[in-house]
Amino acid sequence: QPGRVTAPQIRARKGGEPIVSLTSYHAHTARIIDPFVDFILVGDSLGMVMHGLETTIPVTLDMMILQGHAVMRGSSHALIVVDMPFGSYEESREQAFRNAARVMKETGCGAVKLEGGERMADTIRFLTERGVPVMGHVGLTPQSIMALGSFKAQGREEKDWGPIERDARAVADAGAFAIVLEAVAEPLGARITREVAVPTIGIGASPACDGQILVLEDMLGLSERVPKFVRKFGSLADHIREAVAAYAGEVRARSFPAPENTYAMKKG
Ligand code: KIV
Ligand code: NA
Repeated sequence: QPGRVTAPQIRARKGGEPIVSLTSYHAHTARIIDPFVDFILVGDSLGMVMHGLETTIPVTLDMMILQGHAVMRGSSHALIVVDMPFGSYEESREQAFRNAARVMKETGCGAVKLEGGERMADTIRFLTERGVPVMGHVGLTPQSIMALGSFKAQGREEKDWGPIERDARAVADAGAFAIVLEAVAEPLGARITREVAVPTIGIGASPACDGQILVLEDMLGLSERVPKFVRKFGSLADHIREAVAAYAGEVRARSFPAPENTYAMKKG
């Protein structure tokens, strides 16, 4: 992917200027955000955002590949990171490699992301040693929702910090080029950022993280319900409602289409 940001370049930004990232699942949103971000995540949140699912559990590898390919086509600058969906990498490091290689071959993306800390360290090492750049994801890991019981912030009591810190360290030591920290207590996010040698990408974590990511539809004001860690930087749902109401009114009044939107007969 000539000219694109690379995983090693993201890795080298530890402690530097904040890394900016958003999700995208489509060519058109990828095209719009591409100049502003360092990497675009094709997140398995597409299950909820695009398909109205309750969780990311039902998301398949084929869904990720289809949208990953769309985002690659729409972008030319950002590193594209594609989420490995639930069930596509946990069974063995061989399964993880086979499926990650498929994602890279079929989308052309520059990295994959997978959830889990210490338990995924062997797999992350296996992949990174074989040419698959891996982004880690610790703290709240939505693919474990059925085991966790609910989506809630992690590490809000100091006694719970140990395992989360060990997860982040294990993922970094295994060779991940960056780590998403999702929904962790702010001081824990700052502490892990100080402790690990690779960039942390916060979502509901800390402004001290080496970068930040949000789900695009959430920050644009398109999603119906959003977690506390989202700031709405736009109100796209209102814009869409206004535009669609105007269109409906003009169709009903027969003022759309106007002459400039219709084809006249050829002269002669
Ligand atoms: O799927 C997703 O959108 C994510 C980000 C929220 C980090 O994993
Ligand atoms: Na995800």
